[in-house]
Amino acid sequence: MQDTAPSPSPAPLIDPFARPISYLRVSVTDRCDFRCVYCMSEHMTFLPKAELLTLEELDRLCSAFVGLGVRKLRITGGEPLVRRGILTFFQAMARHLGSGALAELTLTTNGSQLARFAPDLAAAGMRRINVSLDTLDAAKFAEITRWGRLAQVLEGIAAARAAGLRVKINMVALKGVNEDELFAMVEWCAREGHDLTFIEVMPMGDMGAEDRLAQYWSLVDLRARLAGRYSLTDLAERTGGPARYVRIAETGQKIGFITPLTHNFCESCNRVRLTCTGELFMCLGQEDRADLRGVLRGPGGEAALEAAIRAAIARKPKGHDFDYGRQAIGGQMSRHMSHTGG
Ligand code: 5AD
Ligand code: SF4
Repeated sequence: MQDTAPSPSPAPLIDPFARPISYLRVSVTDRCDFRCVYCMSEHMTFLPKAELLTLEELDRLCSAFVGLGVRKLRITGGEPLVRRGILTFFQAMARHLGSGALAELTLTTNGSQLARFAPDLAAAGMRRINVSLDTLDAAKFAEITRWGRLAQVLEGIAAARAAGLRVKINMVALKGVNEDELFAMVEWCAREGHDLTFIEVMPMGDMGAEDRLAQYWSLVDLRARLAGRYSLTDLAERTGGPARYVRIAETGQKIGFITPLTHNFCESCNRVRLTCTGELFMCLGQEDRADLRGVLRGPGGEAALEAAIRAAIARKPKGHDFDYGRQAIGGQMSRHMSHTGG
């Protein structure tokens, strides 16, 4: 692929609220080999191929962001590893790791393809990955993911570790579904040496509000249950994102909590999100976006691209409006997580 990173700009990306934008999350496909109940409907229609950014376009865009000071790139989906040729994209991004322009290249995956990809990902300079895993029970796993097989994911995770990748497990807290596995998951992760983060289920996609409310398990409650069993110490550490961390004294583990609905974390937001169609969302919880695909496919070249990125960052809003009210879900987003990227 071409080397299109503009030379480092003297002006980094700073939004109107003085937040430096150093983290880009990129959804490379809306497709997935699973159909998790909180993410997709059973019969999803996916985007036509022509709508997707090509791997070359993804390279140009990511390289432009890196040239503007983005230090961390997280590849998401859908399931990024089902995108054909995705490895060549990772290998291309490795040049920015090599030059030192990029500090971290990472991936959020459902783990289904990891057994096949782990060694190549590690070779491309990846050090850590996030794997979504909500349960260690095979039957429950099949229910939640509809199409997934637990054994395949566990194999994938083992392959990742064997390749030298650090693994962080992301577990979506689901009332009445994985509540009873709280300690089992903590202890499995401790034994295996994985980091663990709990995520509150978010009002994305077209699932009925009633179903979503029924599944909503507040991390305030989850945390209280953990505290009933273990000694928790709050850690000051922040990554500019929504996670808060605690240490469990008994296991030495660091545990993360992502609570978009019970806590506001927007003030330290350092990130923007690129969809697989080249729309840049400045905030996960707002509809405003910038069409970068049009600019990529237009005549203006890299200068126009940089100008469009700067113009978009200048519109980054202060925060989101998610809020589970008593009955309704406020700030509900109609788009799917698989489109914007988690
Ligand atoms: N709420 C919370 N997390 C979600 N994910 C997907 N949809 C939702 C949702 N509605 C999570 C996945 C994965 C990450 C990419 O996003 O489980 O951990
Ligand atoms: Fe696929 Fe992840 Fe959505 Fe599940 S949550 S359907 S694994 S993209």
